Amino acid sequence: MFRISVNELRSGQVAARSTHNPRDPGAVLLERGRKLNERIIRPLARIGLQSLWIEQGGTEQFDQLVTEAQLSRQRDILKGLNAVFRAAGENKITDKMLAVFRNVTLALLAELRESPRVYFPFEELRADPDYSLLHSFNVCRLSLMLALEMGEAANEGTEKSGELSDVDYAFIGLGAIFHDIGRAAVAPEVLAKEPWDLPNRERKEVEAHAVRGFRLLRDRMGAIVANIALCHHAFLDGYGYPHQAEMEESGSHLPGGKNVHPYSRLVSLANAYEELVSREGYIAIEALEELNCARKQQFPAAALQALNRIVPPFPPGEWVTLSSGHGGVASTFDPAHPFLPRVLLLTDARNQFLAKEERLELCLGECGRSRIVRIRGRSIEHLLPEQTDGRWEDMR
Ligand SMILES: [Fe+2]
Repeated sequence: MFRISVNELRSGQVAARSTHNPRDPGAVLLERGRKLNERIIRPLARIGLQSLWIEQGGTEQFDQLVTEAQLSRQRDILKGLNAVFRAAGENKITDKMLAVFRNVTLALLAELRESPRVYFPFEELRADPDYSLLHSFNVCRLSLMLALEMGEAANEGTEKSGELSDVDYAFIGLGAIFHDIGRAAVAPEVLAKEPWDLPNRERKEVEAHAVRGFRLLRDRMGAIVANIALCHHAFLDGYGYPHQAEMEESGSHLPGGKNVHPYSRLVSLANAYEELVSREGYIAIEALEELNCARKQQFPAAALQALNRIVPPFPPGEWVTLSSGHGGVASTFDPAHPFLPRVLLLTDARNQFLAKEERLELCLGECGRSRIVRIRGRSIEHLLPEQTDGRWEDMR
C-alpha cells in the first residue's frame, strides 16, 4: 500500500485501510477494499480528508508501517487520557489516575526502543474524537523519540550527566502527555477558535493553561513534570509564554536557579512540530523547514538535529512526483541525506502506470538531476536546498 493526497486519487484505485470521517470520528467513511470512483473521490477533500492509503501490488513493504495492533493500543491510551482530561476539567483528578501513566509511558518507551527509527505518521489517529488527546499522545511519543535519539545530550544542562535513566524518560513522557492538561479547564468554544481569532481576554485564558497545568502537576508528579507543562510554550529566544516574571511568580524553582528545565525545551520542540502538522495542516517537510529556518533560534540545536534525524521530509510509503514527471513511492529515509530517499517508480512521465517488469527502485542520489517536486499533492521545490545531498543543518 502507499499513501496519496486525496487530490491525486484515481478512479479504480482501492482503499487499503478503513477510513473514519474526520467530522464524525465514530463513522467509517470508506471501508477497506472499497473501489474508488469519481463520485466517491470528489467529496473527500471537501470534508477535510487529506490522504488515503491505497492498495498496490509491489508495495507490500509499506503494509506494516503502522499495524492495527499499534493503532488499537493507541486508542486505549487515548481513552484513558480522555478520562484524565475530563476529571481535570471537573476538578476531580486523583493521584492514582495520573500515576497509571507512568507505566503507559514506559511501555511506549519499550516499543520505541525496539524499533527506534520507525517512521510514524502522526496524522494516523487524527480521526479520534478529541484533538487535545491525540496531540498530547503524539507529543509524548515524539518527545520520547527525541530523548532516545539525543542520548546523553538530552541530559545536558540538567543536574545529571550521562545516559538517561528510565526515571528521566518517565519525567519526559509524563510531562509531554500532560503538558496541555491545563487546557481541560478552558471552555470548549474558546479552544475551538483559531488562536488569531481570540479576543484578548480569551487569549489570556488559553495561555493560562500552562500555569494551570503546572499547579495541577506540581504536587502530584514533581517539579520536572510540572515545569514541562509550565514552559512548553516558552522559547529559547524569549518568545512565547509564560514570561520570566510569571514563571518566577508561579513558584517553579528548579535546582541551579533555572526557570526552564532542559526536558521542557525538548517537549517544547515536539509540541511545536506536532502543532504545525496536526493543527495547522503542514506536511512533514514544511514543518521541518519552518523549525529549521524561521524558528531555529527557539530550540536547542541538539534537539533540532535529533528531530531532523527522526522525521523524514519524504516519509516512506508516501506518493511523490519527480522532476522528470515520474511518480512513485518514497521507500527509505537516510538521516545523512534526508532529501535523497530511494523511490519505487510506479508511473511514467505521462502519468501512466508502468508494467510490473518496468518498475524500478531509484536512489535519487545516484541518478543525475532528478528530484522530488511534489508530495501529498503540494509543490515543495522551493523548500529544497540547492544541493539536495545536504542536510537541514547545512541550509541557511
Ligand atoms: Fe499548550
